[in-house]
Amino acid sequence: MKILITGGAGFIGSHVARWFVENYPEYSIVNLDQLTYAGNLENVRDLEGRSNYRFEKGDIADLEFIRELFNKHDFDGVIHLAAESHVDRSITDPLIFVRTNVMGTGVLLQVAKEHWKDDFTGKKFYHVSTDEVYGSLELGGGFFTEETAYDPKSPYSASKAGSDHLVRAYGHTFGLPIVISNCSNNYGPYQFPEKLIPLFINNIVNNKPLPVYGEGINVRDWLYVVDHARAIDVIFHQGKLGETYNIGGHNEWRNIDLIKVLCRLTDEKLARAAGSSEQLITYVKDRAGHDLRYAIDASKLEQELGWKPSLQFEEGLGLTIDWYLKNKEWLQNVTSGTYRQYYENQYTKR
Ligand code: NAD
Ligand code: TYD
Repeated sequence: MKILITGGAGFIGSHVARWFVENYPEYSIVNLDQLTYAGNLENVRDLEGRSNYRFEKGDIADLEFIRELFNKHDFDGVIHLAAESHVDRSITDPLIFVRTNVMGTGVLLQVAKEHWKDDFTGKKFYHVSTDEVYGSLELGGGFFTEETAYDPKSPYSASKAGSDHLVRAYGHTFGLPIVISNCSNNYGPYQFPEKLIPLFINNIVNNKPLPVYGEGINVRDWLYVVDHARAIDVIFHQGKLGETYNIGGHNEWRNIDLIKVLCRLTDEKLARAAGSSEQLITYVKDRAGHDLRYAIDASKLEQELGWKPSLQFEEGLGLTIDWYLKNKEWLQNVTSGTYRQYYENQYTKR
């Protein structure tokens, strides 16, 4: 298969690209990424030079560019992850989320439809989405299933809901062979340090305050990123066309409890006195419209396709902290923006 992976220089996309390049040597994988602030070629440095892998720089919302890319590579499959992904940024700058997540997804769907000329045999369009499209749950109040009605509450989740709807509409109206997954919060190596776990590890290392929004009682369901990549592999190959699969770790944590575990584990690894990092915890103004709780029921994926998370949370968290402690230069580069200047000179958009 010739597969287009979008957003493959970002956090989850880089793991998905690595997973497919390493596990499917017979495929040809093209990683398309615009290298926004969140995209970093260091994340896929190890894939460079592999015979089944290529990087292309470009914008998913650029219709002509995407048409040319399909003509050049004649893709059979798309695994679409490129997006604006951070809720806080969607509050300060919502329109880029509409452009990238809604328009960008629309462009990819339209070009796939055109390029495949309505002959969809052997073709597949996989959209990687989030559980945040379902809205927010009460504490102790059930789980998101594939039947839960969409009720997005942030500009980020609304833009992802919009993109999910477009994907389903192309499936329904044109028969495009689509599949969607909605996953809970991911963590692991290469996550941009604006998200809770890498931000807090970075701040602990640098003795900076740990800004806990509100009272820290919001609940998230955390999944190690490689387990997400494994799920995407299973769904891409075995998922039923037109279906949606929820992916989650059965691993709910109140933010403040998770942060305390993170502090304890990092203190141990840095040989700091027990309890020292917890002193950095600083309660700050709550996020506007902050969703209280996300929790995924992943039983459809487990029962129908046999997927299960492989790591216990403390194990995954330990691996993640180790990775960030070992890769201080990566952290410095992504926070200083130097990597972007460097790559801007290496890859120029057509
Ligand atoms: P990320 O922000 O780390 O990466 C996004 C990537 O998309 C970056 O490399 C960026 O350069 C690229 N990109 C942005 N705009 C682009 C454009 N216009 N054209 C081409 N490339 C562009 O995000 P992530 O956390 O890896 O999330 C990847 C996908 O998974 C997203 O679709 C997100 O909604 C979804 N998701 C994320 C989580 C999570 O916890 N992070 C959970 C569930 C689903
Ligand atoms: P985040 O990693 O931004 O993911 P999402 O908002 O998509 O779930 O945030 C995870 C949780 O941590 C969320 O409830 C917001 C909270 N949070 C903080 O308390 N402080 C922070 O600095 C950040 C980034 C998040």
